[in-house]
Amino acid sequence: MTIIDEINRLKKEKDAVILAHYYVNSEVQEIADYIGDSFYLSKVAVTLTEKTIVFCGVSFMGESAKILNPEKTVLMPDREADCAMAHMADEKMIQKIRAEYTDLAVVCYINSTAELKQYADVCVTSANAVKIVKGLPNKHIFFIPDRNLAHYVASQVPDKHFIYNDGFCPIHEKMRKKEIENLKVLHPQAEILTHPECPQEILELSDYIGSTSGIIVHAGRSSCKEFIVCTEEGVRYMLEKENPGKTFYFTETVPVCQDMKEITLEKIRRVLETGENEIHMSKEAVAACKKPLKRMLELAK
Ligand code: 13P
Ligand code: SF4
Repeated sequence: MTIIDEINRLKKEKDAVILAHYYVNSEVQEIADYIGDSFYLSKVAVTLTEKTIVFCGVSFMGESAKILNPEKTVLMPDREADCAMAHMADEKMIQKIRAEYTDLAVVCYINSTAELKQYADVCVTSANAVKIVKGLPNKHIFFIPDRNLAHYVASQVPDKHFIYNDGFCPIHEKMRKKEIENLKVLHPQAEILTHPECPQEILELSDYIGSTSGIIVHAGRSSCKEFIVCTEEGVRYMLEKENPGKTFYFTETVPVCQDMKEITLEKIRRVLETGENEIHMSKEAVAACKKPLKRMLELAK
């Protein structure tokens, strides 16, 4: 029996389903029941009938699935796999800004700890942030934790006043403009596709800016044959699978989210076998985080 056969057997036995983000290793994406960006995965999470969700991603993703489905068992193949940016805001700062502005919405990127989500008026993902912020009745927006996504959303919603936090994704932040320009010299016909977690100087070079799903959909629809991709290299698997005639280039310093790569088939088998690494949250925390997450799902419709 191969490890994949074992995982499939255990999935049936435990009434489990596997969700995976585009950044995990390709062998994990290959066996997943649902693959997607953070928005798609949170939408899918509320429609599942299985008792157990194995979440192949970092901890804020598994936590969000648990908050939206508190009655389900959510297992993380690697409990240490975390998103560095998820911690880059603090309660004191949120309270300070709330005290300063009356007509304020605290908008929390889903890449955040459950603790931070409790203070938010609404959550967003990179796929729906512009739409949701546009639709909010408030004039002032305190956007946490990502300053790069905040600047991008602000550029698309100029009638609102943004207050910026200083969080960032270390992987997207490290992407170098020069390396992208070098690739463009080598491949002048290529379109530049960029995740909005990248710094502004990279967004300015781009032909398309969007979430991981957005990038994959755009590459499929575009008449272009070559693309320079400015996000974590895990998206390469789906880009190449769906577009056999097209070529995708990544920067020389390949953007890799090491935490996402911690998810392996062995760890998936192990949590299915043992029930280890289950996410537990208090009823109070679930209730507090559910509000901004549910509001996101409502406003993104
Ligand atoms: P998506 O919103 O495209 O899923 O991106 C999540 C993420 O972690 C990007 O670094
Ligand atoms: Fe977090 Fe960046 Fe990894 Fe995305 S790529 S999970 S934002 S550390």
